[in-house]
Amino acid sequence: MKSKALITLLSDGAVHSGESLAAALGVSRTAVWKQIRRAMEEGFRIETIRGRGYQLLSTVDLLDRDDILAGLAPETRAGLSLRVLDEVDSTNAEVVRQIANGVDGVPVAIADCQTAGRGRRGRAWSSPRGQNLYLSMGLTFHGGFAVLDGLSLVLGVAVANALEGLGAEGIGLKWPNDIFLPQGKLGGILVELQGELQEGVVQVIAGIGINVHMADAKEVDQPWSSLGGFYPGQSWSRNRIAAAIINAVQDSVRIFAEYGFQEFRAPWQQRDIFAGRSLQARDGTVNGMGCGIDEGGNYLVRTESGTVAVRAGEISLRVSP
Ligand code: BTN
Repeated sequence: MKSKALITLLSDGAVHSGESLAAALGVSRTAVWKQIRRAMEEGFRIETIRGRGYQLLSTVDLLDRDDILAGLAPETRAGLSLRVLDEVDSTNAEVVRQIANGVDGVPVAIADCQTAGRGRRGRAWSSPRGQNLYLSMGLTFHGGFAVLDGLSLVLGVAVANALEGLGAEGIGLKWPNDIFLPQGKLGGILVELQGELQEGVVQVIAGIGINVHMADAKEVDQPWSSLGGFYPGQSWSRNRIAAAIINAVQDSVRIFAEYGFQEFRAPWQQRDIFAGRSLQARDGTVNGMGCGIDEGGNYLVRTESGTVAVRAGEISLRVSP
């Protein structure tokens, strides 16, 4: 964002004179006016008040690396390599690059916007500037790919715990790991495997997208929600949300690596939005009632001829029409 310094000055919502802005930015008043225009082109709503100055009308919630670090648990902060970017193709791709460059510690990338945000099943992920959280973490596991069973669901529980801890009560999970509010999808998790580095050491990129302030998204083809839209009384900070999610993911991954998926089965099921609903799976060849997950994180559908376990890699589950 080219106008970050200006927007930071205006972010208190007060009226600032052109003169005071020029002095604070070390530029001429004409340059301030040009920056105001550029900020408006970037999507900020700024009112010019004749004889008084400029007032920012849009809500701003700037990313700040120090703020995020300050919100982390000391043991998590110590082992992290955090990059906060203005713009990136995809934070998942950024973490892959950090790993290729020999990053020291757990790589984490957060961006103000993504130009090629990726969703599951090859879909694009809408990533407008300044509005949502786009966060990826590189996670290392020992014991080969088999130890990753259920990881997707573990991450969903971690994100739900983090958001609920910040006051977003009633987060739902849609198998395997979509984050839901009653209005629609609030966020998603993209888990990408990086292959085995050495024997038994596997690297996973966990990309998490949460709609925070998003007010319109014409290109999103399913019902969606945002934290600001669903809990309007609260002032949502992307820095605080990022820190809470990083803390929760690190805690959950430690527990998962030590005790496995069993610790997460009940917390996942408490938030299951498919439970008790009439579902279809495998292109409509499996029809039945949603009844939670098994000990490996597969989704269970109770059909007339018995219970069928649907695996995460299989065709998506949907509510019957
Ligand atoms: C889904 O389709 O539900 C998963 C969406 C995952 C989006 C996040 S945003 C941060 C990270 N970077 C990406 O390109 N995708 C993930």
